[in-house]
Amino acid sequence: MTSGKVTGREETAVCARLVEQLTCLPPPPLAVARLASNPSLSVDKTPGPPSMEIVAAADSDERGLSLLKVVDVLQRVVVFVHSFTVGKFRGKLRKATTSSEEMPDMSEEHVTAKVKELCQDLILNDEALKDVCDNLEEEINKGLGKDSNPEASIKCFPTYVRELPNGKEKGRFLALDLGGTNFRVLLIELGDKCTMDSRIYAVPQPIMVGPGDGLFDHIAECLASFIKERNLGDELLPLGFTFSFPCKQEGLTKARLARWTKGFKCEGVEGRDVVELLKLAIARRGDVRIKICAVLNDTTGTLMSCAWKNYNCRIGLIVGTGTNACYMEKLEKVELWDGGNDGPHQVVINTEWGAFGDNGCLDFVRTQYDINIDRESINPGKQLYEKMISGMYMGEIARQVLLRLISERLLFGGCSSDILQEKGSFFTKYISEIESDKDGDFSNCRAILEELGLDDVTDTDCANVRHVCECVSRRAAYLAAAGVSVLLNRINEESITVAVDGSVYRFHPHFHNLMVEQISHLIKPGIKFDLMLSEDGSGRGAALVAAVASRSASMR
Ligand code: BGC
Repeated sequence: MTSGKVTGREETAVCARLVEQLTCLPPPPLAVARLASNPSLSVDKTPGPPSMEIVAAADSDERGLSLLKVVDVLQRVVVFVHSFTVGKFRGKLRKATTSSEEMPDMSEEHVTAKVKELCQDLILNDEALKDVCDNLEEEINKGLGKDSNPEASIKCFPTYVRELPNGKEKGRFLALDLGGTNFRVLLIELGDKCTMDSRIYAVPQPIMVGPGDGLFDHIAECLASFIKERNLGDELLPLGFTFSFPCKQEGLTKARLARWTKGFKCEGVEGRDVVELLKLAIARRGDVRIKICAVLNDTTGTLMSCAWKNYNCRIGLIVGTGTNACYMEKLEKVELWDGGNDGPHQVVINTEWGAFGDNGCLDFVRTQYDINIDRESINPGKQLYEKMISGMYMGEIARQVLLRLISERLLFGGCSSDILQEKGSFFTKYISEIESDKDGDFSNCRAILEELGLDDVTDTDCANVRHVCECVSRRAAYLAAAGVSVLLNRINEESITVAVDGSVYRFHPHFHNLMVEQISHLIKPGIKFDLMLSEDGSGRGAALVAAVASRSASMR
């Protein structure tokens, strides 16, 4: 078993997760006090799987806190948490503002004309974005059609979630959350307020690419250790399993993995029901009893979590390590639907839009950088839209562009560094940090370049590096906006809330504004929308799906 120490590349994910857990903490001093008094934050000291813990007695119903206040809490917490985990943290959080002065300035005077020219490939004009929307719409239609689904790149899996929460859900639930380099177990209490107690466990790299049984044994081990620590052994709590990979659902508790994404590649899981695999792993241990009530994707959790108190919420979006969206669709449009026709004539569709473009329909906007990244990835030819948008790839796209500029002697006098030559060395969080520098100030940028072994840099170099980051993140935000616009236009209601989560959306200083700006251009006149940061969809959303499922079952 590896140690639970969080280092280097895991830091972004860990910080994101920690912050995700803390989004509903009380105001700053208390939040910090809780963390300070919780020495188990850094590394697990108890026997069992490696883990990190935050006792987040989260009152997610603190609607009195304005978004700005929440962001302020997050800023303080991230800086604090980071000082526990890795030391330095230069990144700042997204400011929740829609003012245009916060938008990136793509016309900085220092940027070299030749650099601008070379980055042109990354800039999507209105026409290209419109074509992206049209293709996406077509792929969604194909995905929903019974006969056309097999060739569709966007699979549009019905989730069997047909009702949104009504805000009155109550009870105690367990939730499992697997979707990235960490795995979480949560104990959630829903009532007038929502309280959560959770523990984060690392998923060591060998487990991410090892045999499937190893992964599920690890999950079962973490769950067993959580249950023992909390003395929950005597209760048979309903459990929601957030499994954030493309799955063909065959019911609320049956989901066959279609393919691995985001760096996972465990043998023997594709094509199998992940709930069954989890049950088998638990049975192999024989020391815990569980009652799985729902398996869901993180997008569904995000939608449910926001819809709990916001009745206009119809879309769940993730822009984090991976990207995906789900939305509420009318049953009559879902030819694929094989569930009953009783009850609400709607179902949440997990689009799995990350695979958009896998049939070549995005080739007209893909660049040589995208082609290189795909070729060197663990899943070539797959998840092509995701590879242009999400946090797992954005940093690497920027690195590829920087290397190209160096090779053309347009950056750092043509000299690279050993670190920058290494694949993956330019983390996606660097993009957020560099773009958080105030106009004309390059302090984050210089510090990052120094970390990468590039210390003799000019202001022009920094402006050029920042320009590259802006092109990469702006393209990602516009592509995600194109996807959201297609869904908003399909739903076509007067006022729609989009629940959003994921580290890229949360931490990039302009991602929200860029998306809002582009969606406004692409949607039908008359539709009002807002993008709302959704609090802990993978945890609270799982509990809500389980709660809504048991309510519907008891009414039938
Ligand atoms: C997965 C989705 C998931 C998304 C965000 C993608 O790689 O295929 O199922 O929702 O990442 O976590």
